[in-house]
Amino acid sequence: MIKMTINADASKGTISRNLYGQFAEHLGRCIYEGIWVGKDSPIPNTDGIRNDVIGALKQAAVPVLRWPGGCFADEYHWKDGVGPIHERPRMINNNWGGVEENNHFGTHEFLRLCELIGAEPYISGNVGSGTVHEMQQWVEYMTFDGTSPMADWRKRNGREQPWKLTYFGVGNENWGCGGNMRPEYYADEYRRYATYVRNYSGNQIYKIACGANEDNYHWTEVLMREAGAYMDGLSMHYYTLPTGDWKDKGEAVGFGTEEWYVTLSKTLHMEELIIKHSAIMDKYDPDKKVALIVDEWGTWYNVEPGTNPGFLYQQNTLRDALVAGINLNLFHQHCDRVRMANIAQVVNVLQAMILTEGSRMLLTPTYHVFEMYKVHQDAERLEIVFDSPKIKHGDDEIPQLSVSASRDAEGRIHLSVCNLSHADDAEFRTELRGCNTAKASGRLLTANRLDAHNTFDSPETIKPVSLEGIVLKDGIVSFRLPPASVAVIALEG
Ligand code: AHR
Repeated sequence: MIKMTINADASKGTISRNLYGQFAEHLGRCIYEGIWVGKDSPIPNTDGIRNDVIGALKQAAVPVLRWPGGCFADEYHWKDGVGPIHERPRMINNNWGGVEENNHFGTHEFLRLCELIGAEPYISGNVGSGTVHEMQQWVEYMTFDGTSPMADWRKRNGREQPWKLTYFGVGNENWGCGGNMRPEYYADEYRRYATYVRNYSGNQIYKIACGANEDNYHWTEVLMREAGAYMDGLSMHYYTLPTGDWKDKGEAVGFGTEEWYVTLSKTLHMEELIIKHSAIMDKYDPDKKVALIVDEWGTWYNVEPGTNPGFLYQQNTLRDALVAGINLNLFHQHCDRVRMANIAQVVNVLQAMILTEGSRMLLTPTYHVFEMYKVHQDAERLEIVFDSPKIKHGDDEIPQLSVSASRDAEGRIHLSVCNLSHADDAEFRTELRGCNTAKASGRLLTANRLDAHNTFDSPETIKPVSLEGIVLKDGIVSFRLPPASVAVIALEG
């Protein structure tokens, strides 16, 4: 029996909705096929964007969408992607399979997608191979309300009103595919480029600097010291690879308990990264003005056999659901500093929400976790007092449970719980302090195989069901979770 207390009257900060952000790159079948099919496609679409994908992303309440990359962003020249679609130049997607990029999905199409799903755009600009002028003009094109060369061009291309654009990334992975820069050099480049990312016509841009890869604490130190005063957010990327080896990352399906625990242990490493990067940020920014933005995270496995290795297509199982739930709980826990996160990626790439095949679409276990957890968006984080039992595997030890609780604007309390054990149930006795609860209900995601996943022939093999057997008595909520499961419990007055 696990005893837990939720202090419902003590808020521990706001869980930004942007922790539920997504990422869409021109990579493999993410944009083309996954999102964009073109207006003439037999696949039902709105202005060229798949209706099934729009519907699913709306249902998941995606708050913010990062685009066009990733590594693609630092080779992307935005002017190639505006104007009459069939006159747009074709280029090579050098990072991802060397395939042709026809630029049919560009600025207007991306911002239309954001409008259709109700997400805020987060655009990554090109520092690695682009110019300051090009970046300045892109922002002018999108946001200037008046007469100017870029605003006039936008109008000729069919958009009279400027768009609202809040989030702008000044480069991506500039320590690697974005130019192989040293932090000292990038810090100066950041300052120069960011100077010309202007606030036109009342639009306020939130500037995000390229941050560290994983545990490159030196990068964070230099960026905060040299450029911290010029940014609103600093990014950080961390991917969960079961083997930790980029040459053979591990398989997406067909794994055993060893790979289950190693993967969950590696994903829990996210907490150490957040704590250590935040400690450096605290030194330069004790008031936490600069947010830590985890704008790429998720699982990265060997690609699905028979698919293009440059397309990063992988299946998504119950294990990915646990990875999603654990990371979201961690982001909540550190919501004072972590104020945006963008899982990689939204459709058909890495730890995707959605997979497509021709006209067919399926929702992954990861999607279901995001949809179940959306109740935490913009809610107040609540303190939970409890001690998790531990699971030993090999020389390593991980907690059996990952938990988070919040109170939404209507006063409803939500408790999300992941049971990491592949074999053991978890039985809870939860005391609720500081609130009156009259009603409890829950949703559960689990399966009888650790690698359970949805396929196009069986798209509902794993999906949320109602959590049965919740008992509410004298302010105590009791429930039992099966092994390898993710649940969200709703408590209402
Ligand atoms: O998400 C795939 C790639 O991973 C991105 O393009 C890059 O930023 C990262 O290395």
